[in-house]
Amino acid sequence: MRYINKYKFVFYLATAFVLYSCGAGPDNQGLEYAPNMYHSVPYEPLTQITDQSSGNWVSSLDNGVGEYYNSNPNNPHGMTMRVPPANTVRRNKNGYLPYRIPKDSIELAARILKNPLDSTLNVINEGKALYGMFCSHCHGQKGTTPGPAGEIYGGVTSYTSAAVKDKPEGHIFHVISQGKGRMASHASQISVEERWKIVRYVQVLQKQ
Ligand code: HEC
Repeated sequence: MRYINKYKFVFYLATAFVLYSCGAGPDNQGLEYAPNMYHSVPYEPLTQITDQSSGNWVSSLDNGVGEYYNSNPNNPHGMTMRVPPANTVRRNKNGYLPYRIPKDSIELAARILKNPLDSTLNVINEGKALYGMFCSHCHGQKGTTPGPAGEIYGGVTSYTSAAVKDKPEGHIFHVISQGKGRMASHASQISVEERWKIVRYVQVLQKQ
């Protein structure tokens, strides 16, 4: 009688086990090797397993609940993150709201936006430093002749050109935030405060 080679048998068994353990889903983490290495003891902000017995079989915790249980009993719905109060929008620590003027509404931005930062030497110097980090490689040190990246990128407008030199602060802020034409949005890299500082410096360059 032919019998299966025992190494092959172990191999098939191991493969079947590994494939079986891949069956994870949003509410099922599948089989985990040494699970207490993955599950944090502090409350996790984004997961919420409410079943206290979940992961009982591997529990290393001494509070009697399963390894996977991670609801926060102190908050509604067992969540760690709190639901914001109805009809509210979160401001950042300096009180700014998220920027929501759509990309194609540049005239509106130019008309209504006002720089909350005064044009002090300090603000202009900080704007200059930020300009050096985020803009000058394309726009050049003075904003008139393209920097090394701008030369390759092409089509970089000079701040003293007729099209740009009289543009108001809201216009410049909008261009940094949403991008315009060949220039992409810089909103993800530069905070609102920093953008307004850069605007102060670009205004200096417009008038040079
Ligand atoms: C990747 C290169 C690149 C970077 C980085 C870049 N720009 Fe631009 N910028 C451009 C190009 C290209 C244009 C021309 C856009 C067009 O009209 O197609 C432009 C246009 C502008 C304009 C004129 C918009 C108008 O009304 O015509 C302003 C103002 C401006 N950029 C400011 C900035 C500031 C401030 C920064 C730094 C936060 C910055 N840019 C970073 C490439 C860049």
